[in-house]
Amino acid sequence: MNYRPFGRTGWQVSEIGFGAWAIGAEWGSVSEQDAITALHASIDNGVNFIDTADVYGDGRSERLIGKVLKERSERIYVASKAGRRLNPHVPEGFTKENLTKFIERSLQNLEVEALDLVQLHCPPYQIYYMPEVFGYLDDLVAEGKLNFYGVSVEKVEEALKALEFSNIQSVQIIFNIFRQRPAELFFEMAKKHKMGILARVPLASGLLTGKMDRESTFSSDDHRNFNKHGEAFDVGETFSGVDYDTGLEAVENIRSMVPEGATMAQFALRWILMFEAVTLAIPGAKNVQQARDNALAADIPAFSDEVMAATRQIYDEYIKDQVHQRW
Ligand SMILES: NC(=O)c1ccc[n+]([C@@H]2O[C@H](COP(=O)([O-])OP(=O)(O)OC[C@H]3O[C@@H](n4cnc5c(N)ncnc54)[C@H](OP(=O)(O)O)[C@@H]3O)[C@@H](O)[C@H]2O)c1
Repeated sequence: MNYRPFGRTGWQVSEIGFGAWAIGAEWGSVSEQDAITALHASIDNGVNFIDTADVYGDGRSERLIGKVLKERSERIYVASKAGRRLNPHVPEGFTKENLTKFIERSLQNLEVEALDLVQLHCPPYQIYYMPEVFGYLDDLVAEGKLNFYGVSVEKVEEALKALEFSNIQSVQIIFNIFRQRPAELFFEMAKKHKMGILARVPLASGLLTGKMDRESTFSSDDHRNFNKHGEAFDVGETFSGVDYDTGLEAVENIRSMVPEGATMAQFALRWILMFEAVTLAIPGAKNVQQARDNALAADIPAFSDEVMAATRQIYDEYIKDQVHQRW
């Protein structure tokens, strides 16, 4: 495992983190045993950063992480998220009182004194024009409830606007072989601001592992079934917003590029790490094997310019029209 500086925080975090949505809910059932052993396997392989949210399994993900933290002596950074408990999820809900309530609940779930990092969880775009909201987060830092804060965004434009708030330490955005637009202007600007960048949905919800085909099915409580067309939340979070059959076709063209001894999941993760603006990728994992496979991606040697150009060509040919100007 290699480590990279996380924005301006002074932390050194593993290039591969652990995305803890699937161990919460909305990905079919994951047993407590599988979730806990997967978290341990990641840490055993050098992972020191976990991404979660207060709404993943209504706190289940945070509580499982809290359990694992107690069993480990390493310094593990946990990033949670706040804001999605609001119903309706509207700008007026982002009050000091509500944010305090959400953050206190995460503190209880994780059983810690202060949260390492709280990210506003894809807030409505109006929040970026309400500086008072970031002022509430500054207050919560001053009160010792959290150490740092960041944002998770859907669109590149929100990521760029976030750079204007000097106390935002990190931006979480979808970035993978099927979502290449962040590497244009945003990465260049983020580097200038020393902004931490978390690449989420790095495996395009599993499509980029190369294990899926036209016959693959997903259980009714898996968003790859119930949100395939954006029925429940932004469709960009499911298969990166790429039409499933088109994604499968693109994956077939990537297969021959995977180096011997590596899995396609590892190829997809290592591709993300080729971009030095990225701090870490946060793949989800539901069991020990996936957790280990993902962590080991950091050890694969760098790819040639030819391989990077070929992945870009596949993006341009199959994917770009569907996603590039949408997010
Ligand atoms: N709005 C937000 O802020 C937001 C939204 C989305 C995600 N996130 C964060 O980003 C993290 C990662 O994104 P994601 O979980 O949506 O998608 P992802 O990382 O692209 O895909 C994860 C899924 O791929 C499969 N998988 C993982 N590793 C594998 C391997 N080595 N081999 C084969 N299959 C593998 C697993 O599902 P199966 O085994 O069932 O196929 C796993 O749940 C989340 O966990 C969450 O922390 C944040």
